[in-house]
Amino acid sequence: MFRSVATRLSACRGLASNAARKSLTIGLIPGDGIGKEVIPAGKQVLENLNSKHGLSFNFIDLYAGFQTFQETGKALPDETVKVLKEQCQGALFGAVQSPTTKVEGYSSPIVALRREMGLFANVRPVKSVEGGKGKPIDMVIVRENTEDLYIKIEKTYIDKATGTRVADATKRISEIATRRIATIALDIALKRLQTRGEATLTVTHKSNVLSQSDGLFREICKEVYESNKDKYGQIKYNEQIVDSMVYRLFREPQCFDVIVAPNLYGDILSDGAAALVGSLGVVPSANVGPEIVIGEPCHGSAPDIAGKGIANPIATIRSTALMLEFLGHNDAAQDIYRAVDANLREGAIKTPDLGGKASTQQVVDDVLSRL
Ligand code: NAI
Ligand code: MG
Repeated sequence: MFRSVATRLSACRGLASNAARKSLTIGLIPGDGIGKEVIPAGKQVLENLNSKHGLSFNFIDLYAGFQTFQETGKALPDETVKVLKEQCQGALFGAVQSPTTKVEGYSSPIVALRREMGLFANVRPVKSVEGGKGKPIDMVIVRENTEDLYIKIEKTYIDKATGTRVADATKRISEIATRRIATIALDIALKRLQTRGEATLTVTHKSNVLSQSDGLFREICKEVYESNKDKYGQIKYNEQIVDSMVYRLFREPQCFDVIVAPNLYGDILSDGAAALVGSLGVVPSANVGPEIVIGEPCHGSAPDIAGKGIANPIATIRSTALMLEFLGHNDAAQDIYRAVDANLREGAIKTPDLGGKASTQQVVDDVLSRL
């Protein structure tokens, strides 16, 4: 589905060898909590694919997260970044736990990793189970991954007039990052146009209030679309203010196709959309950059169920497929999607978040048996 994206990125940013490459080195970064339980699921699926489609995988275990911080003083060790940069074409990232109160020296390694590795897009397909209740939902949320409020420039100071504390955060939107995210979102829409005969891009913003920052996001998205009409002209183009977007997303999710959003809105919309398809445990994502693609389930470290062996592995298994898709291995990815869809459609072996009694490994085994 995203082959052209991988190829296009390849052409301009050095993924060329990856797109054609059959022998892949994959970094495995479980992180904290259920990350440690779901990343092995992704690994087992790739191991099962070994020698199918001519692919072969080599794995490297890597570390990041709160436990790593407690043990080494660094949430994202230099070695992890170095190995990813120098040796890996792809990686799977589980989840990291963040303490609820500020811990000196700690900040989320996934945000740093996205920035370090130039992973400018977070692509999050949200799809309901075929044959399930209600109208089918099948959308892709394309979240800008490097800026907005997540640049984490914050300061706290005392307001002179009242003598009380005030905290400010900088929201950054740049032309370059917006052009990049609009282009990949339109390329994804184009691919969907080719396979389904129609596609719509919805640009999410709040430019009625934030006329400069979100105004720029909106303006550049439109410009990318308008100035490439020969390529994207058959894609329908919509804009939607983020609050009414949430309302529409919950009332008529089947109306959405490809959504592009600045970092924070994209984060919130995709967790919300996950609720529409049953569980955070089934929603995957891929962090896409010029040099590497990192598959990452949308969920966090889920401390409430960690260590019980009941985390839903499907978000990670789908993230593994998404990673392969962006590396140009669409056939292998489709095999994985089909196996997962079959498991969900049959519904006999599912984890408690979907109302079942199965363990993580039982779901993995079921998916493997369908591959
Ligand atoms: P969460 O996604 O970890 O959990 C939310 C709810 O969904 C919980 O009830 C959890 O049990 C359930 N859930 C999530 N994934 C599941 C799965 N695979 N199978 C079954 N149930 C699942 O979000 P929460 O509780 O807000 O955050 C927990 C920790 O994770 C925090 O420290 C947070 O900072 C971190 N986090 C990390 C992310 C990352 O590493 N990318 C993303 C989101 C949160
Ligand atoms: Mg999130």
